[in-house]
Amino acid sequence: MNRQNIRKNTKQNSGVFRKRRLVFPLAFVTAIAAACSVSQEIKAYFTPPEIFIAKPYIQLGQGRVDNSTVSHDILFLARNDKHEWELEYKSATSKGWKKAGPYVKRILEEQPLEAVTLFSFTIPGLPAGKSFSYRIFRDGLETFSTTAKAQVAFDQPFKFIVAGDLGAGSHGQRRIAQRIYSEAPDMWVMPGDLVYNMGLLSDYLARFFPIFNADEAKEAVGAPIMRSTLCIPVIGNHDIAQSIMLSPTNLNRMHDAMAFFQVWSAPLNGPLSRTEGPNVCPLAGSASRLSAFTQSAGKRFPQMANYSFDFGNTHWIVLDGNYYMDWSSPEMRKWVSDDLAKASSAKWKFATFHQPAFSTDLYHLKEQRMRLIVDELEKGGVDIVFAGHAHNYQRSFPLHFKPSTGKMNSDGTVDGTITLDKNYDSTTNTKPNGIIHIVTGAGGARLYSPTDSKEIVRMGDFLLKTISDCHSYTMCKVDGGNLSITQISDAGKVIDKFALRKD
Ligand SMILES: [Fe+2]
Repeated sequence: MNRQNIRKNTKQNSGVFRKRRLVFPLAFVTAIAAACSVSQEIKAYFTPPEIFIAKPYIQLGQGRVDNSTVSHDILFLARNDKHEWELEYKSATSKGWKKAGPYVKRILEEQPLEAVTLFSFTIPGLPAGKSFSYRIFRDGLETFSTTAKAQVAFDQPFKFIVAGDLGAGSHGQRRIAQRIYSEAPDMWVMPGDLVYNMGLLSDYLARFFPIFNADEAKEAVGAPIMRSTLCIPVIGNHDIAQSIMLSPTNLNRMHDAMAFFQVWSAPLNGPLSRTEGPNVCPLAGSASRLSAFTQSAGKRFPQMANYSFDFGNTHWIVLDGNYYMDWSSPEMRKWVSDDLAKASSAKWKFATFHQPAFSTDLYHLKEQRMRLIVDELEKGGVDIVFAGHAHNYQRSFPLHFKPSTGKMNSDGTVDGTITLDKNYDSTTNTKPNGIIHIVTGAGGARLYSPTDSKEIVRMGDFLLKTISDCHSYTMCKVDGGNLSITQISDAGKVIDKFALRKD
């Protein structure tokens, strides 16, 4: 999105901006713009001064409190200035508007005259599965309002979307945004590579928020998804600003890196609370840069790289598949095992991570790191794994994987035996024997060549289907023991469909 479009979009929803524009002398605005040394994309948001740098959006936050009550966060980005912010909400059961508690303010990026600040309100006590409204006031003036839907209750049918490899600023990404918005899902799970190319805050401001939280649904722009729909973040390799392979993320080189741990809010129930050591993304940079990042991220770094949550009658485990992860580590394996065992009341269990355990594509054929944890997922009763990384759609046969050594080879491969269930046909036999592995990485990034993929598919026999010629997303409907999964193209065409059933 260019600067002109950003300005136009922000103006559309900003009655207060029109009033305030008269108040700010042009010279003052110009001075701020000149002094601001942030990237061109961020600069566009500061000139002229708008109310929001990124408009409000809903996050799972703590999520389910009990079967009838949930707690969610509303976040937005604005300047670190002297304005007072308030949030009011009205749920299906409340008589009128209620004021949310005090907001948390975290400075994400400091610059000489401006600072990008994240404001976070928590809305507690929301009735599960019901719509609610929220509105935001700045200095007593209403600046934003919308409706959203809370996390569904245990016994409620619901639909969710899975699509990853997203924020490339492409036409395909905008078409996928239109499609997702039109589906009105209860949740959108995003299996990694959320924004290209480095997961920087400036990448989010240029290619994520303006498209997935646009003011209106327009193919040339995007759609207002994030303000109303729970988006679930999963970390990918493009989210950690790795400029040199297998080397620490350098916060001196990219000072707005690792925005994944700043802009999202997911349950902090993961296994890692230390900020360095095994299975934590290594960071480099000056002491002040590192300190600024860890302060703004708080417990989110690194805990939010791995977490779990319940949604309706499903349980989700979200895992980090990046290069620094060792899924043969007893600490990590125990956390997965314990988490899945605790979720014994869930009818369906899903795992999601970016780098697929089973994929046949030209670029990632030997990245098999996540096969190291597949045996624990099988033991824990996981039904489906959703991954991304390969920019296409792939569905495996239901399969079991028995690792031979439990260690990864130096080339990234993991040895073991794959057993396929070729009897599951989703109509007469709806009970797969093994996990179905889905790659749904066609959410916006440049698609992998279909010709290459066809060649590569011949090298593996665990795939039932590969589709690489269109951007697409996975639509899933859960109704008790019935689960239907449909892969839909950016043109709205069904390109794959299957179902599972449990008694
Ligand atoms: Fe990736």
